[in-house]
Amino acid sequence: MKEESKVSNSNFKHLSVLANELIDFVKEIPCNASKKNLMIDATLGGGGHSALVLENFPDINVIGIDQDKIAINAASQQLKKFGERAEIQHTNFSQFAPSEKASLVFADLGVSSPQIDQASRGFSFQVDGPLDMRMNQSEGIKASELIAQLDERDLANLIYQYGEEKFSRRIARRIKNDLATNGSYSGTLDLAYAIAGCYPPKTRFGRIHPATRTFQALRIAVNKELDALEILLNNGPDWIHQNGLFIIISFHSLEDRMVKRAFLNSEKLVRVTKKPITAKIHEISTNPRSRSAKLRVAKRK
Ligand SMILES: C[S@@+](CC[C@H](N)C(=O)[O-])C[C@H]1O[C@@H](n2cnc3c(N)ncnc32)[C@H](O)[C@@H]1O
Repeated sequence: MKEESKVSNSNFKHLSVLANELIDFVKEIPCNASKKNLMIDATLGGGGHSALVLENFPDINVIGIDQDKIAINAASQQLKKFGERAEIQHTNFSQFAPSEKASLVFADLGVSSPQIDQASRGFSFQVDGPLDMRMNQSEGIKASELIAQLDERDLANLIYQYGEEKFSRRIARRIKNDLATNGSYSGTLDLAYAIAGCYPPKTRFGRIHPATRTFQALRIAVNKELDALEILLNNGPDWIHQNGLFIIISFHSLEDRMVKRAFLNSEKLVRVTKKPITAKIHEISTNPRSRSAKLRVAKRK
């Protein structure tokens, strides 16, 4: 059984996290051998997790959705060999309504490596790009527009709430002062430099870049990520057959808290994992992104 997935073409390189763990849970799903069973992959990305399920479980078909057109194109290439077993839709999971029930609803939240790595997407404080950060590039406002629209207090609250950033007030003050003086930032590095300047000198060069939390906050706000997750957590159970699974991988505490509460409190679900499953040392050493991944599973009653 193949239990590793790396989506890789010249522009799209992404290593799927906790892939073996996902496969182990899929093995447990009671599938009806006489008909095709369905996995809804709510965050298809380049199609890494979906390809793995399609390869290892011939009785499972996939509907994969993503709000990012570039990811959709990469997944279409990756999943072409599975023909009609893989159906791909360009949409936001908060607006999705399946026409049939699934044995598995899966979401691997957040951004993919190519979204971060491609400077032109504007997610990175390591490479310079425009302050965009939209996963769906044909919708919504860019990060540059968001910071221009918010007043200092609302910007500070946003950075605190979505980034859990203790220097949120200083950072918001600095950003609004810079915008008042210069009109705009030249790009992501210019903003990251300004944010780093709000940290006390001794703490600027730690393991975590000072812009990490503020960039996370802006990204969450630009893409309305927590609103979309709340809708997925509400609607998802209705997409699943009895005894089917709802599996979610999250990457920060705000998401994980929402998943944990929803799985615990939903009348339609029973928790399968009481504690989240995390990546093993070997995976973390080959894929540092997996360090913060938390996988939780619930079963449809
Ligand atoms: C971590 S990547 C998924 C990678 C994928 N599991 C793989 O193995 O290749 C997350 C993907 O979810 C997409 N995404 C995030 N929020 C979404 C939403 N609300 N609706 C649809 N897609 C979303 C992003 O555009 C991104 O491509």
